[in-house]
Amino acid sequence: VKPKVVVVGSINMDMVTKSSRFPKKGETITGVGFDQFPGGKGANQAVAAARLGADVTMIGAVGNDHTGQALLEHLKKEKINTDFINVHQTVSTGMAQITVAEEDNHIIIVPGANHAISKEQIESAVDVIKEADIMLLQLEIPLEMVEYAASVATQFGVKVILNPAPAQELPGELIELCHYITPNETELTELTGETDIIKGTQKLLSASVDAVVVTLGSMGASYRRAKDNENTNIVGIHAEVVDTTGAGDTFNGALAVALAEDSELEKAVPFANAAAALSVTKFGAQSGMPTAQEMLKYKSNE
Ligand code: RIB
Ligand code: NA
Repeated sequence: VKPKVVVVGSINMDMVTKSSRFPKKGETITGVGFDQFPGGKGANQAVAAARLGADVTMIGAVGNDHTGQALLEHLKKEKINTDFINVHQTVSTGMAQITVAEEDNHIIIVPGANHAISKEQIESAVDVIKEADIMLLQLEIPLEMVEYAASVATQFGVKVILNPAPAQELPGELIELCHYITPNETELTELTGETDIIKGTQKLLSASVDAVVVTLGSMGASYRRAKDNENTNIVGIHAEVVDTTGAGDTFNGALAVALAEDSELEKAVPFANAAAALSVTKFGAQSGMPTAQEMLKYKSNE
């Protein structure tokens, strides 16, 4: 049977401008390209998990507009269950304005319908949530909804992965509802006040979390379980970087699939790390996300 993953999160259209550099304050510069891609941390993680063979249900919201329709169609094409995605009548679909420059990415998101996700919507999916192996959450929908979704999952013994992105402080009650927390370095500092990875992971664990997995970009990842006395580091994999947008989402989607399949972190984190490395080789958040088959091929070439 396929592992079952439920994602409660954001759906955006990414408007991506490629530029050799960022403009200075007040400056106008000429970019080198523009494209639109399906995005949003929730949808990206849902797509990553579905491509890797999971049975994925996405709970989220889009507006009643062309963009929303296109994004819904896209999720269906990726074989994601969209039955619990609300088409909101009065707010528009979430948007992300992204600049990909040589040195880095900048993103501005306008949440729109993502901020209109409701408790009723989550409740209506309770039969699917009950049967899930893992629930996957991020922070692009209201915190109250993140917390509510996590409470429904834990009520039925379903494990919760929280990807605390974009970075923000979190209430202790929410952290305690999560089994796995997957910050990058910035987010770890935001959550714990620690810039040291070992101290930061230790601090988050003491709030009754099973494991903290810190993503380190091209440097790989570092994880620590409540039962461990040390951090385990997974080295980065060299990749020809075209666009790192969505690399963290690929990592989380892949981690969810591996954990839903009952893999231990020893296997799950390297798997997620490899999936993320493959994802950065194409332009657009979801374009480079590997399928299960591509992962096997990649492994045999290693
Ligand atoms: O994590 C990348 C995503 O963040 C983009 O797809 C964009 O939509 C923003 O939400
Ligand atoms: Na990419």
